[in-house]
Parts: sequence; C-alpha cells; structure tokens
Amino acid sequence: MNLVLTGFMGSGKSTVGKIIAEKLGREYCDTDELIEKTAGMQINDIFKERGEAAFRLLESEIVKSVCEKSSAVISCGGGVVLNSQNIENLSKNGVIVYLYASPEQIYERIKNEGHRPLLKCADPLNEIKRLLEQRREAYSNCDFSFDTGGLSAGEAAEKILENNEIMKLIGKTKNN
Ligand code: S3P
Repeated sequence: MNLVLTGFMGSGKSTVGKIIAEKLGREYCDTDELIEKTAGMQINDIFKERGEAAFRLLESEIVKSVCEKSSAVISCGGGVVLNSQNIENLSKNGVIVYLYASPEQIYERIKNEGHRPLLKCADPLNEIKRLLEQRREAYSNCDFSFDTGGLSAGEAAEKILENNEIMKLIGKTKNN
C-alpha cells in the first residue's frame, strides 16, 4: 500500500513525506513536482496561463498515474481532495493521511513564499480560513489525521511512523 499525505498548503506534506520515505526506504513522489515536470511550467504559470480548471485536470491525471505505484510515499497538493475521484483512486491502494495546522500556523509558514497562486491575494490569512472551511468535509474523509501545528517536520514524521495501524496497513512492520 502507498502512504499518501495531503493537507492544506503549508501543512508540511513534502518535507514530512521525504523524511518518512527515507526512513522507510520507500520511493517518494510529489504530485505538484510531477505536474510541473509534465507541463514544463511552474504551478503559478499554469494557473495564470491556463487557469485553475486546467490545473485540476492535470492534477487528476497525475494522481491516476501515481496510483499505479504500490509502496510509495506520495505527497499530494492540498487541493487534491476537491475531486472525489482523486480520493477514490488514491484509496484503492493507499492510506490517506491528512496533515492539519491552524490557519494562523499555516499563514506563518507560507507568508514569505510566493509559489502558491491561490494565496496571492490581499488578505491571505482570510483566504486560508475560507478555503480550509470550504474543504473541511473533504479533508475529514481522509483515513487518518495528524495535527502538525506545533511540530517540526521531523516530529510530525515520527508521529506518523509511530502509528502502528498505519504501518500495518502499508505493509511495514518492525521487521521489514
Ligand atoms: C493547491 C496546493 C498546492 C498546489 C496548488 C493548489 C491547493 O500544493 O497544488 O497551488 O489547491 O491547495 P501544496 O499544498 O503542496 O502547496
């Protein structure tokens, strides 16, 4: 089974995912990176030149392709939950873990970064709150959730690795 990480922008998916993959000796992949590679463009430019709908279509195609994997750690963009087909595909051979942080903590993490088109607005904190509320139900359907708010990426990774239920589901026991 794959270990799939999702959560709002700035929740630490990519950093946490890389640490977990390394500790488990598993392949790591990141849907945002694959989208940029496939499109030959940065996410900001995809949104600007082709629009969000085109980005979401590409994201769903990439999700379909990463679902072909069977024992990878997959970090998915925060909007992947918006399409229930993505979740259905990822669930077929993956455990979906939601990383949560409060709007204020997310804002602190992302405020100096410029690569997130959805948060390039006059009041990013308010937009974070709005989007989190809009996605609340979709995120709540994930198999597991972890509050990463006060944690470093290493601590968040440790918490996930210490969860025996998740480790068992992805076929990782203390001896393998
Ligand atoms: C998005 C999250 C981003 C990226 C795109 C849209 C979203 O990924 O896929 O900017 O809708 O939440 P990260 O969550 O990795 O920043």
